Amino acid sequence: MFYTNYYFRKFLNESWLRPVGRFIKHTSIFMKLEDFFSKMQTTLPTSKSSTNTIKRVLSTKITLGGGDTQQLDGLNGLIQRLKSLEQYQDIELNGNTISSGTRECKSRWDAIKQHIPQRGVVLDLGSAEGYFSHRIAREFPEVLVLSFEKDTIRTNIQSIIFSMEGLTNVVVCQTEISPLEIARLASVVETIDVIMALSFLHHLPTYQIPTFLTMTAHLTPVYIVEFPSPLEIGVCNYSAVERFEHIEEILKRTYPSVVGIGNFRSHLDNNVQRKMWKAQRQSLTRKNLLPYMSAPIPFVRTHTLDFRDDKGWILDNSKKLKVGVNAWNLLHYNIVYPASEWWQRNSVDSYKKLLEKGHNVTDVRPWNLIITPSGLEVIDSKDVPNEIIALRPDDIEKLAATFGKLKPQFLW
Ligand SMILES: C[S@@+](CC[C@H](N)C(=O)[O-])C[C@H]1O[C@@H](n2cnc3c(N)ncnc32)[C@H](O)[C@@H]1O
Repeated sequence: MFYTNYYFRKFLNESWLRPVGRFIKHTSIFMKLEDFFSKMQTTLPTSKSSTNTIKRVLSTKITLGGGDTQQLDGLNGLIQRLKSLEQYQDIELNGNTISSGTRECKSRWDAIKQHIPQRGVVLDLGSAEGYFSHRIAREFPEVLVLSFEKDTIRTNIQSIIFSMEGLTNVVVCQTEISPLEIARLASVVETIDVIMALSFLHHLPTYQIPTFLTMTAHLTPVYIVEFPSPLEIGVCNYSAVERFEHIEEILKRTYPSVVGIGNFRSHLDNNVQRKMWKAQRQSLTRKNLLPYMSAPIPFVRTHTLDFRDDKGWILDNSKKLKVGVNAWNLLHYNIVYPASEWWQRNSVDSYKKLLEKGHNVTDVRPWNLIITPSGLEVIDSKDVPNEIIALRPDDIEKLAATFGKLKPQFLW
């Protein structure tokens, strides 16, 4: 019935018809027409296809946890390929190191883990083989980790390991991050509690480093940065390492507190240490934020986010935000884990659960889903009957198609 109401109301909403619409909405003609369209609705084939989509998607087999020989073979093959290039971090499976990298990880983790909050979102930039993302996902179940890495062998390794362990509080994006990607993230309502840039910044083109650092610093109350020393002969992008040797000075422009949290042996020279910094501030305000990426600007209102150490993230001075990230925004970063079937199934399932509870589900859109440490959740599903944003025949189809491709498609 909502579907027909939708088309009928959309028809009445055409600008030239609005005065007529306003009049007939209050007359019995409206009731009769509505009744007529509602009867017609029962024959619309698309509603049946939505039901089929729900059934098909919900019956998809998703293999998370356990792992099989095929996955193990795939993992071994990838590790061998990586070894012939460079395996930077240790690779762990179910708590055991299955392959050692060139860089010491355990001592760095011991220093880092003290600064990971019990709940929140952590963004790991240049996450390599996923050692730290993995540790956080395992040891902090109420944290959602975003693991961003450009190398496909490394992201494939991470995906297999997370899938074998059945971890879903981590999203892996195979993506090359630049200041533009960070600007995109900074333009929307998104809450990131910790950013880690460990031995990452010097991989950016030298001219991008100050912009990148300043932009990321505006996103997060806690920033953990490790940076090489110019004494390390053979380090990548040596000119950047030399130029930004005192990287903490840039952090100090944004953060009132910047402290060293450790010195860790370089893999290039055992006698040289790399410094790690933790930059922190107690409060942070971000203004003029769009509700989600590519929102139709004149038609949506913008928002303010406030972070306070003791209160967490507050939206528009009123609403305390849940720990999570908008699924639609993440689609812009090339998600490779969890796999599309997981997203399809959980997105459809989230809406199905609301329908089963008798909610009048409206505004079924990928930007109304957030991924939390415990799975996908619907937000902003307005329980308003007969609105223009009512559930339409093909909404579920479009949702499944979007998450099937894991791309930000404009199907609506
Ligand atoms: C030196 S490793 C550091 C890995 C890890 N952060 C650590 O400290 O153990 C740098 C990693 O960043 C990745 N990387 C470099 N530039 C990147 C970019 N623009 N976007 C995403 N990943 C990048 C590399 O592929 C590599 O895995």
